[in-house]
Amino acid sequence: MPSTQDVYSALKSVPMPELGADKDVVSAAAVRNLVISGGAVSFDLVLAIGDGVPEERVQERQAACESAVKGLAGVTSVHVKTSVRPVPVANQRSIMPHVKHVIAVASGKGGVGKSTTAANLAVALHRQGHRVGLLDADIYGPSVPTMFGVSGRPEPAGEKQIHPMHAHGISLMSIGFLVDPDTPMVWRGPMVHGALTQFMEQVVWGELDYVVVDMPPGTGDAQLTLTQKAPLSGAVIVTTPQEVSLVDARKGLKMFEQVKVPVLGIIENMSYFVCNSCDAEHDIFLRGGGRRAAEEMSVPFLGEIPLQSGIAASGDGGLPIVLSAPESAASKAFLELASTLHKRLGHAGAEPSGLQSMAWKD
Ligand SMILES: Nc1ncnc2c1ncn2[C@@H]1O[C@H](COP(=O)(O)OP(=O)(O)O)[C@@H](O)[C@H]1O
Ligand SMILES: [Mg+2]
Repeated sequence: MPSTQDVYSALKSVPMPELGADKDVVSAAAVRNLVISGGAVSFDLVLAIGDGVPEERVQERQAACESAVKGLAGVTSVHVKTSVRPVPVANQRSIMPHVKHVIAVASGKGGVGKSTTAANLAVALHRQGHRVGLLDADIYGPSVPTMFGVSGRPEPAGEKQIHPMHAHGISLMSIGFLVDPDTPMVWRGPMVHGALTQFMEQVVWGELDYVVVDMPPGTGDAQLTLTQKAPLSGAVIVTTPQEVSLVDARKGLKMFEQVKVPVLGIIENMSYFVCNSCDAEHDIFLRGGGRRAAEEMSVPFLGEIPLQSGIAASGDGGLPIVLSAPESAASKAFLELASTLHKRLGHAGAEPSGLQSMAWKD
């Protein structure tokens, strides 16, 4: 009987050139629900949103997977169920109709660097020439105002809408712009649903290529509301290498799968530490946990962000590290993340039509 590992290794020989020269069906997370029973192997081949696999290639890709697995010792039959996920079309949505892609940045727990990742991803996408917004959906611990060095109140736009704030070329919205930071958490609880919905529906985001959403930590009600309501193209899960945080990351992954939002991948933050004096990379935690979790869950691994002393200072100083130290290892990881996501999503959405007006509800 072949092992799971054998099957994955064989499938890694089936390339996904649409996603990049080094991509294969496993690293593209196209292989799901692998079941091995005796010599019978079955799995789903999900050619997900943005893969851009031309229709005439779908059959061919499936056949390549079948023959790769058939070649393994002990395999008697291979059953592949192939599906192609539809691509959501931006201008057919009523929520954020002129935004091509909404990307959630999520984590199972706080303090793993979710806001840092969301802010730097937004800046990195902007640096790569895209029009970008950042929605701080972390009602309990908004960090966008500090990370972008912005204070003050948003301008109203007519009776029912408000304009986003702006810094470093990014359109920004956060509960931190609307309520006094000293408002007790207990008051904010009931506001969560309303505030998040309003941020999506009543902020004049305008025509943007990407809106990055800094999600509240965890997998509770607020997260479910957002994932169900927001027109998410996909989610990025941030984790640290430690086991506790990985357990939470897996929960996050399950939540997005439940609501059928594609998980674009896992990124590992505070992966290793580069010391200033010797330039060596020190693995102070168990580096590689994020990569293993990604492989185990069949989602792409999106990179490692080192622990870097400049990150905390730049976050507090209103200038994300991609701007304050663009050559640093962390910045390179964020820029790489941005280009990977754009490669995955960039060609999937339709051009904003510019014809529909923003829809909102009372
Ligand atoms: N790679 C990193 N290196 C150094 N400090 C970091 C790194 N990632 C995050 N931090 C710091 O850790 C703290 C928590 O990060 P934050 O992004 O706010 O996490 P979360 O949004 O998940 O709660 C912040 O002070 C941030 O500046
Ligand atoms: Mg945060």
